[in-house]
Amino acid sequence: MEEELQRLRAEAEAALAGISHPDGLEPFRVEYLGRKGRFTTLMRGLGQAPADQRPRLGKLANEIKATLESAFAARREELAGGPAAAQRLDPSLPGRRYPAGRLHPVTQVMAEVCAIFVGMGFSVAEGPDVETDFYNFEALNIPPHHPARAMHDTFYVDAGCLLRTHTSPMQIRAMEQAQPPLRIIAPGKVYRCDSDITHTPMFNQVEGFLVDRKVSFADLKGVLSVFIARMFDAATPIRFRPSFFPFTEPSAEVDIGCVICGGKGCRVCKQTGWLEILGAGLIDPEVFAKVGYDPEEYSGFAFGLGIERIAMLRYGINDIRLFYENDLRFLRQF
Ligand code: FA5
Repeated sequence: MEEELQRLRAEAEAALAGISHPDGLEPFRVEYLGRKGRFTTLMRGLGQAPADQRPRLGKLANEIKATLESAFAARREELAGGPAAAQRLDPSLPGRRYPAGRLHPVTQVMAEVCAIFVGMGFSVAEGPDVETDFYNFEALNIPPHHPARAMHDTFYVDAGCLLRTHTSPMQIRAMEQAQPPLRIIAPGKVYRCDSDITHTPMFNQVEGFLVDRKVSFADLKGVLSVFIARMFDAATPIRFRPSFFPFTEPSAEVDIGCVICGGKGCRVCKQTGWLEILGAGLIDPEVFAKVGYDPEEYSGFAFGLGIERIAMLRYGINDIRLFYENDLRFLRQF
């Protein structure tokens, strides 16, 4: 009887070790540990053993049954991938890489632009994307029916509210709240009903303005030239082209040599060799009047940069819409 018990134990242990899939567990349990299984059948025969051996054999049979039951439970856990399986993990295997996210190229360029101006002593201010007609147009010397409104392709929310078409409303908001000297940049999203290879309906601008006594156009040229030299390189061609904005006088647009074609002319620069990156000028005295600054005492300059345009030139991207198509093959390059 004892021999039979030991034999069954060895056989059951070997059968358990040979199970390689959870599906093999239930047939094993039925065969060895079930109510009609081989172990139970053997135990039933215990009654025929000599009376003096019965207690010892009964104890042995119970021990073997308990051992087999706990071995069965451990194997079940192992096959289910529990802690027992974890213990068998090979720590020398190479780790699994988790895909890491990264900043969008436009966000990266925005941060670089802001860092350059912060390095020149500008502080950062932010304002609302949904603006009133007053801040977006009227306070910037663009009254109702002014032809400049037509250039802005505005998305209106309702009669007096709109999605800001530029970051220039921040000039007014900042000047209303503080007295000169001021040196501020205002980064943010702006919106225009406009779309082609160099225009998107939502894009980013950084507004910059400085107000103090005796500020001249030379100061504006100096600040923007330093910015362009730091953002691109000192040899980048720049040109200040006379322009018009109702809120600056005189006004200019600044172009840099097209880095996509090296200035030879391509579809991005519309064969001109130049790409416009910002508008700028000396703040119009009418704007100062709106915020209660004395134009006799103070002067200032302002500029508004297009971030996507700068990112295109920085990375040699020939279609602005690529930034917003969310194609991972494009985004992973930055
Ligand atoms: C303005 O928005 C003026 N507020 C800039 C300014 C500020 C002038 C302060 C004077 C003083 P403009 O519409 O030219 O100007 O836009 C400025 C820049 O934004 C452009 O040079 C261009 O780089 C970028 N930009 C304009 N429209 C789009 C568009 N649809 N998509 C992408 N970038 C654009």
